[in-house]
Amino acid sequence: MILAISGKGGVGKTTIAAVAARALARDGSRRSLIVDADPAGGLAMALGMKPGRTLNDVRKELIHEVKEGARDERDLAVSIDYLLAEALTERGNLALLSIGRPEDAGCYCKVNVILKDAIKGLAARFDETVVDAEAGIEQVNRKVLGSVDYVLLVADTSMKAVRTAETISAVGATMAPGAGFGLLVNRVTDEGQVEQVRAATDLEVVGWVPEDPTVRRFDEEELSFLDLPDCPASDAIDAVLASIL
Ligand SMILES: Nc1ncnc2c1ncn2[C@@H]1O[C@H](COP(=O)(O)OP(=O)(O)OP(=O)(O)O)[C@@H](O)[C@H]1O
Ligand SMILES: [Mg+2]
Repeated sequence: MILAISGKGGVGKTTIAAVAARALARDGSRRSLIVDADPAGGLAMALGMKPGRTLNDVRKELIHEVKEGARDERDLAVSIDYLLAEALTERGNLALLSIGRPEDAGCYCKVNVILKDAIKGLAARFDETVVDAEAGIEQVNRKVLGSVDYVLLVADTSMKAVRTAETISAVGATMAPGAGFGLLVNRVTDEGQVEQVRAATDLEVVGWVPEDPTVRRFDEEELSFLDLPDCPASDAIDAVLASIL
């Protein structure tokens, strides 16, 4: 099961991904892969986990070695598993993979294709994968989210955020035809706001998360969300995840 968390900038994607990681860590019964796919890398910080090498570091290293002739293209697939494993930061049953910033635009198709397969293979070795996607539709467009099973669209109570979620869902439905989509309304201060969103969109509203001072404090004080105590926001997020995972 690969779950991607997507939506407009600043609506709470990383917060929700971090609380999802917390729930998986607390459960502890399954091995979970957490992917920080935002080049800004906020998820690792929210979890208090220091990412080592990023996926793009691995990619650059492989391209370099192929160009230098140091590595035969045929043994790329073998070494890539090893390099990917090195890029994981582990804590208990969680493993974190940071995507990093894609830099050179040159097409090293062989490397990219092998890498994509390797990530799929990596995700398959975990019971579930949670991806904190980059804001907006770029990653959906580039098929980064091509193999996801479910896209949890996050919006705050603004219509702009809801429309962005609709766009992602429309593009995503063509890129990942098998995937499910659901809208999570975040930072709700009054339940009437949820009804307004429901009335304004055809997306299925799968839950809502209240504005929560504990979440704000953890963010402001840069505390690890793995240590977040039970609070209204975590209860709401846990309930939504339980219905999806
Ligand atoms: N339910 C909530 N209650 C209170 N504050 C929240 C809640 N959800 C998110 N926030 C706050 O909103 C801000 C943005 O959240 P977050 O960084 O998770 O958004 P994002 O969608 O990942 O942003 P970006 O697009 O920049 O990656 C943060 O300061 C976070 O603490
Ligand atoms: Mg974020």
